[in-house]
Amino acid sequence: MSHSRGLCRPEGMRIAIAGGTGMLGRQTAEELRGRGHDVRVLSRHAPEYRVDLTTGDGLAEALEGCDAVVDASNSRSPKQAEQILVEGSRRLLAAEESAGVGHHVCVSIVGCDQLPFGYYRSKAEQERVVESARVPWTVVRATQFHELLAMGFAAVGRTRVLPVPRARLQTVACAEVARVVADVVEGGPRRGRVEVTGPETADLRVLARRWRAITGRKALVVPLALPGALGRALRSGVATSDRADVRGTVRFDDWLRAQTTTGKGNGR
Ligand SMILES: NC(=O)c1ccc[n+]([C@@H]2O[C@H](COP(=O)([O-])OP(=O)(O)OC[C@H]3O[C@@H](n4cnc5c(N)ncnc54)[C@H](OP(=O)(O)O)[C@@H]3O)[C@@H](O)[C@H]2O)c1
Repeated sequence: MSHSRGLCRPEGMRIAIAGGTGMLGRQTAEELRGRGHDVRVLSRHAPEYRVDLTTGDGLAEALEGCDAVVDASNSRSPKQAEQILVEGSRRLLAAEESAGVGHHVCVSIVGCDQLPFGYYRSKAEQERVVESARVPWTVVRATQFHELLAMGFAAVGRTRVLPVPRARLQTVACAEVARVVADVVEGGPRRGRVEVTGPETADLRVLARRWRAITGRKALVVPLALPGALGRALRSGVATSDRADVRGTVRFDDWLRAQTTTGKGNGR
């Protein structure tokens, strides 16, 4: 099978989304289906295409006849990050090569190579695996999603105390990232990176106070000192970018207000 299917059939492509049941994967699947593509959702608990990236089970069948693959899988546990993101990418790319997939889109994180913390190290290593693959690829680097922050604040704030470190972030609505990922899939492999960020840079403590005001939660925001290299990196703004290829337009506050008025609570 040719390695250029993704470029030859920009409309009506067959696209597999690894992690298609997750926060970004779901919205990417919806976006691509809305554009007329044939989308397969792959994950350990997906109804049709059950795959496990830690073993490779199910990948060969799931990728048969696919033009492109979006890797939106993730590990909620830092301990499994290496297995799912790094080794999982190797397994996924090997299966793609056998199936003749023409484009691998890896979703990554702005500044992951400058954040000295286990999970981000695995993301940076995942990028290196993808960038040295034989399957044509694109890496989409996004900043943290508004959804992630809202969920984090809600979970920690249940105790009515919200310890928050200083961190410069540029959060973005997951739906805006899903649109960029869909554009990248349709555009074909770049063998390069595309960066997508939110419209504003703000300190995490400011965002926590805005979250409290908009949701009406009673949690007390208290400063948390994050010592060491990770704290310094977050304060210095390595997780933000002023040279993004795409800058989202939906601000955290507006996104949160829309969630609150539609009763979606914390965005998931
Ligand atoms: N969340 C953010 O703020 C953010 C920001 C920038 C970039 N990103 C990147 O975007 C990607 C998606 O993140 P997300 O937050 O949307 O993830 P998520 O909601 O945690 O979803 C993770 C997905 O991975 C699947 N998965 C987990 N373990 C698996 C395994 N062993 N085999 C196959 N599938 C597995 C899960 O489904 P099952 O449990 O059914 O297997 C689920 O569909 C990640 O690469 C992340 O680094 C996220």
